[in-house]
Amino acid sequence: MRIIVVDNYEEMSKRAALMITSQVTLKPDSVLGLATGDTPLGMYEELVKLYNKKEVDFKEVRTFNLDEYYGLDPENPQSYYSFMNKNLFDKVDISKNNINMPDGMVKDVNDFCLLYENKIKTLGGIDMQVLGIGGNGHIGFNEPNVNFEAQTHLVNLNEQTIEANSRFFKSIEDVPVKAISMGIKTIMNSKKIILLANGLNKAEAIAKAVNGKINPSIPASILQLHNDVTIIIDKEAASLL
Ligand code: PGA
Repeated sequence: MRIIVVDNYEEMSKRAALMITSQVTLKPDSVLGLATGDTPLGMYEELVKLYNKKEVDFKEVRTFNLDEYYGLDPENPQSYYSFMNKNLFDKVDISKNNINMPDGMVKDVNDFCLLYENKIKTLGGIDMQVLGIGGNGHIGFNEPNVNFEAQTHLVNLNEQTIEANSRFFKSIEDVPVKAISMGIKTIMNSKKIILLANGLNKAEAIAKAVNGKINPSIPASILQLHNDVTIIIDKEAASLL
C-alpha cells in the first residue's frame, strides 16, 4: 500500500483528480470505478476543472459505480445516480452509454448483479477504482463481517451506515435499508485502487484497515492484499497511523 498524507481535503481531492487524469491520459478508454459520498466530492470538482481547462476528457471513458440504494428511483435526488449526474456526468463529455450504475429499482436483483459483473469483465475489468471508507471500515456498501468472496450483490445496510447517511435525508426513516453494491471480490479485481479519507472520524477505520489484521470485521483491511493501492488521506485521517 502506498500512503500519501496531505494537509487537507482540498489537497486530497487534487491528488486523486490528478491520478485519474493520468490514468485517462495513458488510456483514454479507461474503465473507472467510481464512488459517491462527501469524500470524493472535491475530487469530482477538481476533475471538472481539469476538463474545463482541456487537461482531460471523458469521451471514451467507461464507468461503473460502486453502489446504489435499493428501492430509490434514479430520479430521486438522493440516489447515487443523481449524485453522479450532478457532480460529474452532466459536467463533462462522457457518453451516457458508457455510464454503468447499479439499478436501485430492478426487480430481479440477482440477474442484474450477474449482468453488472459480466459487463465489467467484458470491458476488460476496472482499471482504476476510487473508494471512500465508512467510519466502520466499509468499502462500497460492504459492511463489517463481510464475505470477502462476494461479487455485486444486494446488501443490508448496518445501523452505523444508516445513521451516517441520514444526514442526506429528511429523516432517518427515509434512508433505504438495502443497497446493491459491488462485492469485495469485484473491488479486489480492479487493477488499481485509490482510497480517499479525510477527517478524524475516519482515523480509526484507516488505522485498522492499514495496520490491523485482515479481518471481515474491517472490510477495508482486505486491501492490504491488493498489489496496487494508493491511500490518499489528510492529516486527521492519518492521525492514528
Ligand atoms: P463519505 O462516505 O464519503 O460520505 O464519508 C464514505 C463511505 O461511507 O464509504
